[in-house]
Amino acid sequence: MPSSRLPWSSPKNAFTLLLEERRRAGAPLLDLTLSNPTKAGIAYPGAAILDALRDERALQYEPDPRGTAEAREAIAAAHGVGPADVLVTASTSEAYALIFKMLCDPGDSVLVPQPSYPLFDHLAALEGVAVEPYALDIDAGWRAVLPARTGAQAVVAVSPNNPTGSFFSPADVDAAGRLGVPLVVDEVFAGYPFGAAPPPARARRDLDVFTLGGLSKSAGLPQLKLGWILATGPGAAASLDRLAAVADAYLSVSAPVMRAAPKLLALAPAIRDAVARRTRANLAALRAAAGARLREPAGGWYAVVEAPARLSDEDWALRLLRDDAVVVHPGYFFNFPREAFLVVSLLPPEAEFAEAARRLTRALDA
Ligand SMILES: Cc1ncc(COP(=O)(O)O)c(C=O)c1O
Repeated sequence: MPSSRLPWSSPKNAFTLLLEERRRAGAPLLDLTLSNPTKAGIAYPGAAILDALRDERALQYEPDPRGTAEAREAIAAAHGVGPADVLVTASTSEAYALIFKMLCDPGDSVLVPQPSYPLFDHLAALEGVAVEPYALDIDAGWRAVLPARTGAQAVVAVSPNNPTGSFFSPADVDAAGRLGVPLVVDEVFAGYPFGAAPPPARARRDLDVFTLGGLSKSAGLPQLKLGWILATGPGAAASLDRLAAVADAYLSVSAPVMRAAPKLLALAPAIRDAVARRTRANLAALRAAAGARLREPAGGWYAVVEAPARLSDEDWALRLLRDDAVVVHPGYFFNFPREAFLVVSLLPPEAEFAEAARRLTRALDA
């Protein structure tokens, strides 16, 4: 028997089945679920990225469970923390795994936002950890509705959140801080604000905060597999020792990417600019097409559109796929609490996105 940690044996839903059928048939689709930046026609500084990876020192194996000094220094400098506050990981997903292993016994729980990133359920389940959702209030600017007390081991936040594009505000940080457990803030999209952003949670040095990030979004380079944990607050040094002990069992970050990290982080702002030009142009097109149906994001790569609740989000997604060849994510993928929200990626090429936004709006208005 496989382990009960494997939670995803559920049968495929109607939307996934229809999408697979359309793709098999080679149907031309306008895909607003595209989330892989390397497939979105973004202009990357390809030669400079490959040059960064060409480093003689990558031929040596000098393992350090916290990551090489130069990688930690570069990550620290980019985030206004010290190198001693940084632990390098192979991805943000791995950062979650290390933190859950360090903070939780099997059967413990963590508080996670809803709606949010659907992979939480799996990342927690793989560590034998349960998730306890807390709501982001749709009608109050996605304010976090946290309990007054908790038996959970940590509060997880995503800022800006996938898919609502909302920041975990200073008031949300205060509410999380009152629970007296560490705050884990996934900041993978922090480099993509659409306007002014609040200060990061780690500015509160009186709280134990684990900030997660990685090149996957901050430099649009998910294939390079480099992430990080920044540990700040009163318990940071002890936590980093424990995280290093966990990371030492795997030593999963490759030498070439750690050696390249300073150069890759130096290239990141230009790549972010190219991605942000795309997301801003697409957001403007969506705003023009969808008007008040758009739930304006404050940052990130996604936008939420509210469809008339006479159909479920899944039925809207099915109808858009069948009748308009437009692929969107139904809100239930992200655990939206009510009908009918659709999630679109702002990464697709602009002409394709604008046409899809027109078709989407026409269908919702019909
Ligand atoms: C909120 C959020 N966190 C983490 C990740 C994964 O990041 P990584 O590729 O560094 O594991 C994603 C990817 O979509 C994400 O949306």
